[in-house]
Amino acid sequence: MQNVKSQRSGRLGLPNLGLGVGLRNQHFSYLMRNDPQVDWFEIISENFMDNFGYARHVLERLAAIRPIVMHGVSLSVGSTDPLNWDYLKELKTLAEFVQPKWISDHLCWTGVANVNTHDLLPLPLTEESLSHVAERVGQIQDFLQRPLILENPSTYLEFKESTMTEWEFLTALAETADCGLLLDVNNVFVSARNHGFDPSAFLDGVPRGRVGQFHLAGHSDKGTHLLDTHDHPVCDDVWALYREAVRRTGARATLLERDDHIPSLDELCAEARRAADVAAEAAA
Ligand SMILES: [Fe+2]
Repeated sequence: MQNVKSQRSGRLGLPNLGLGVGLRNQHFSYLMRNDPQVDWFEIISENFMDNFGYARHVLERLAAIRPIVMHGVSLSVGSTDPLNWDYLKELKTLAEFVQPKWISDHLCWTGVANVNTHDLLPLPLTEESLSHVAERVGQIQDFLQRPLILENPSTYLEFKESTMTEWEFLTALAETADCGLLLDVNNVFVSARNHGFDPSAFLDGVPRGRVGQFHLAGHSDKGTHLLDTHDHPVCDDVWALYREAVRRTGARATLLERDDHIPSLDELCAEARRAADVAAEAAA
């Protein structure tokens, strides 16, 4: 899969790791016996915190032979609650073990008043929330001492108070807080359909040099809206949007997400390898 790799990508200087898949326990025993057919793995950070059993053993083996990236769902960077320093300490401890290439989470909030909704909720896209989130990202990066990249979530509602588009907010945030972006192409597609914006405008609007990673995933069409379910293969429309994204941004570390109806690792890796073909088409 070397054909989609380059030395360094964008202004962040993050390496293009090639093609990756999420590390899921359905594949643990296979991975202990076989060499993975992908370039790198992404872990859900929370699944490995305070976990010193078999999962940690598998992670240790893989970290020795492939780059690992840590992807979290609990940073709640957009919340008005104080930052959760206990969580951040655990994240940093895990990062010292994993030595990830970078750490990612989402531009969202997951709760307030110490109530965790376990959902990635959208923010009002205003100057006030921009300066709030930028300050918190600065504190987080100072503490972790590692690159933080933030992902655009799939969203299902918008705030009427918002004064900017999501891509304008992400651009201003990345520049102000000096962080990177994880561009989830499926999430762009889902949110674009749900809110009626042009997904190409999103791709045009994000700063290319700040994009450190792509996500690809499948979604479900619920008739009235699209739902980000990660439970089946990437659809042709999202592959076409990925082609557009690579054409604008250049090749970046690309991860195929699957969290339900998880197939064999061989099948998942075969789907991930399609990203190399699409990236080559984009380059051509
Ligand atoms: Fe994602």
